[in-house]
Amino acid sequence: MANDIKRIAVSTGGGDAPGLNAVIRAVVHAATRRGWEVYGIRDGYNGIFLPEKYPNGDGVIPLTREKVRGITHLGGTIIGTTNRGNPFNYPMPQADGTMKEVDRSGEIIDGFKKYGFDALIAIGGDGSLSIANDLAKRGNLRVVGVPKTIDNDLEGTVATFGFDTAVSFATDAIDRLHSTAQSHHRVMVVEVMGRTAGWIAVNSGVAGTADVILIPEIPYDINKVAEKINAREKAGRSFSIIVVAEGAKAKDGTTSVVERELGKAERFGGLGEKVAAQIQSLTGKETRCVVLGHLLRGGTPTAFDRLLSLRFGAAAVRALEEGQSGVVVVLNPPTVNYIPIEQVAHRVRLVPVDSDTILTARDLGISFGD
Ligand code: F6P
Repeated sequence: MANDIKRIAVSTGGGDAPGLNAVIRAVVHAATRRGWEVYGIRDGYNGIFLPEKYPNGDGVIPLTREKVRGITHLGGTIIGTTNRGNPFNYPMPQADGTMKEVDRSGEIIDGFKKYGFDALIAIGGDGSLSIANDLAKRGNLRVVGVPKTIDNDLEGTVATFGFDTAVSFATDAIDRLHSTAQSHHRVMVVEVMGRTAGWIAVNSGVAGTADVILIPEIPYDINKVAEKINAREKAGRSFSIIVVAEGAKAKDGTTSVVERELGKAERFGGLGEKVAAQIQSLTGKETRCVVLGHLLRGGTPTAFDRLLSLRFGAAAVRALEEGQSGVVVVLNPPTVNYIPIEQVAHRVRLVPVDSDTILTARDLGISFGD
């Protein structure tokens, strides 16, 4: 029964994204208006199952209206997050010095009972939502998810909050790089995040009028990229801007992964520098690389992201009130509704290579190196 809810927990998991605090604030306001208590679990689920990390006993903290005052415009998350250590496969040191993945989800479920939580609002990306869904099934918990990621790669929702802010920042960076590229007659390579999807690269690259955009969805040939730079040179355009998604893939299947460790998702990095070195050697043009990296996750959410976050947070509470569980709130314009977490979990939404934005880019003469 939905109306027996008295106390709910909120967690934020995965990489931070601008708008997390706005979701938390909306959840607290909507829930307390219904007479429910709200508690924040710190750092994903760590606050509830790793008490040794919280010697002051503050792994789970009460979230009152007072506590969430003035946070809508703040980046980050006031309850902390982590993108390490899935509790179902938690890396634990063994007696022989090696690490082994161990299922510690039972400790979280026990923690939920101990605190008397009637439901969980899990704010996160594909990984965190999948964990929330597995917890719901294993512990018979009532769970509603809120989709978050600057990468915009979640199925079932037209947008995730944080993406608009990241694209706006990247576009501004590309704008700024135009003047220095033009003045020095250089090639500037801009590497952006996005994991295995090219949403940030495509949207900021087209908006910022880049000359080349490399994304995971369209494998590239570096010689084709060099041809584009040389063609511009011949046409009297002595500078070029190349936007590289961190997870872009060469035609031979090569990607640039810097970390692949137990308990950690593979981490991309270094592709921008590699592309810059290749382009300098193929074209003879001075080339520089700028990695926007975590700058894309910081700062004030745009008005679009704030509004989306507030709508998602309030909708998650309404979903619980209606008796929903195992669902995630999604943007389905003009409304926000709910779909089963299963339709989102363990899936990645890639940029359709025949999408209008890609076709627009091609019509504008932007090369994808294919
Ligand atoms: O999923 C968001 C994201 O920002 C990705 O685009 C990026 O690959 C990843 O997080 C980096 O995570 P971190 O450096 O925090 O481990």
